[in-house]
Amino acid sequence: MATDQKAEEAGAKAATDGKAADGKGGDTLSITDNRTGQSYEVEITDGTIRTMDLRQIKVDEDDFGLMGYDPAFTNTASCRSAITYIDGEAGVLEHRGIPIEQLCERSTYLEVAYLLIFGELPTKAQLERWVYDVTHHTFVHEDIKTLNEAFRHDAHPMGMLLSSVGALSTFYPTAKDTQDPEERYMAAIRLIAKMPTLAAFAYRHSMGYPYVYPDNELTYSENFLSMLFKMENSYQPDPRLAKALDILFILHADHEQNCSTNAVRSVGSSDVDPYSAVAAGVAALYGPLHGGANEAVLRMLRRIETTDNIPDFLEGVKNREEKLMGFGHRVYKNYDPRARIIKKHVDEVLEATGDNPLLDIATELEKRALDDDFFTERKLYPNVDFYSGLIYEALRIPTDMFTVIFAIPRTAGWIAQWLELKDDSEQKIARPRQIYTGERDRDYVAVDDRDGPEKITGPPAKRPKLIRRGA
Ligand code: ACO
Repeated sequence: MATDQKAEEAGAKAATDGKAADGKGGDTLSITDNRTGQSYEVEITDGTIRTMDLRQIKVDEDDFGLMGYDPAFTNTASCRSAITYIDGEAGVLEHRGIPIEQLCERSTYLEVAYLLIFGELPTKAQLERWVYDVTHHTFVHEDIKTLNEAFRHDAHPMGMLLSSVGALSTFYPTAKDTQDPEERYMAAIRLIAKMPTLAAFAYRHSMGYPYVYPDNELTYSENFLSMLFKMENSYQPDPRLAKALDILFILHADHEQNCSTNAVRSVGSSDVDPYSAVAAGVAALYGPLHGGANEAVLRMLRRIETTDNIPDFLEGVKNREEKLMGFGHRVYKNYDPRARIIKKHVDEVLEATGDNPLLDIATELEKRALDDDFFTERKLYPNVDFYSGLIYEALRIPTDMFTVIFAIPRTAGWIAQWLELKDDSEQKIARPRQIYTGERDRDYVAVDDRDGPEKITGPPAKRPKLIRRGA
């Protein structure tokens, strides 16, 4: 019950005794608009208010109404989700309620993908069917090879993956029927099945190696290693490495409403086909502040070169000359539980592959940062990317491929989130508001009547000093 008529019209719930309309617990927020002296009450549900309830708050008839301003969504829930739970303060991560530690210990990536998408662990028969279906959709249309061949030999594999995932929508045009359950199932299967093939093809292209086709006799992670590294007919992936890769896949499968998942949901909200929506997720993941961070960590460790250089490097970070990549997280204000699990597996992998001097730098860097007030005061702890790159490097995977390998397992999360979006009756096409800060009511001036410098000015117009490659 808003205290004014308009508020009632706007749909605010009555709560004359300060309690919610259902009389349970008084979960409402009282707001007084000091511009007008008018008071309003809006409902609090699950610790949130609906920002649409603010729209009733107006200074006069013509006022658009109050909006929330939240650049980068730091305090705005964009959906209801039952897929992944994170408690950033406590360092907890659960998928469909099951702790990530148990999943890494006892499950497999394909089982976790099923869990994310269907909401329950599969029965034995369901799991067999699921694994069979994924395994038998790993091949891609031969034309994908032609598409890849159009890229320069040194094209970044993430750019290639982005294009080939987008291209899948042209191979499966019936996926446009996003309400058809069979289309949804096939899109889920195809995306999970083909992502490793697309990723491996991008890698083989960058190395100038012939492409290796999927091997249906191998597990998901073994098959990926085979497509990356097979040179003769008899490649047998080391089971220790395949297991470590499978755990990395589980750890990266979903992470609720992060940048790329938000991109998938936002693009998917236009009702585009799921391949295009997932391509948007791949694009978002490419960025160095998101999935590209594992690549940036390795480059940073190489640049530091020896443990002796760590104090100088950390001084530079504190002077804001650069960031300590692989540290910090929007949600985790404690040790990222995924980083803890990965750290445990680094040693196992190195046992199979041989030592890596970068591990000493990473371990010392972490120790020193965690002893330093600059990082502890800001609650900056290692995130998933701090150690994952070391495992990838030990697996002899080139740095350019790290983010590609993140995209493979995250596909399950993107699909689960896309499906949840599609079935959420509260969702519409994503369309944020803005606060307009530009000029108004200007007249067009003919080109001959305009004054100004000859040079194009301003940061976006800065012309490169070096000659760039290509056209
Ligand atoms: N190194 C140094 N300082 C940092 C770092 C870092 N890695 N991360 C945050 N800070 C500082 C900021 O400068 C800021 O300091 P201030 O309050 O004195 O200005 C404070 O910590 C808070 O940081 P924000 O930028 O507000 O945190 P936000 O939540 O926006 O950023 C992010 C999170 C992007 C992950 C950030 O920590 C970062 O850039 N980290 C490095 C990149 C990285 O590792 N990304 C991977 C994230 S995990 C993933 O996407 C899979």
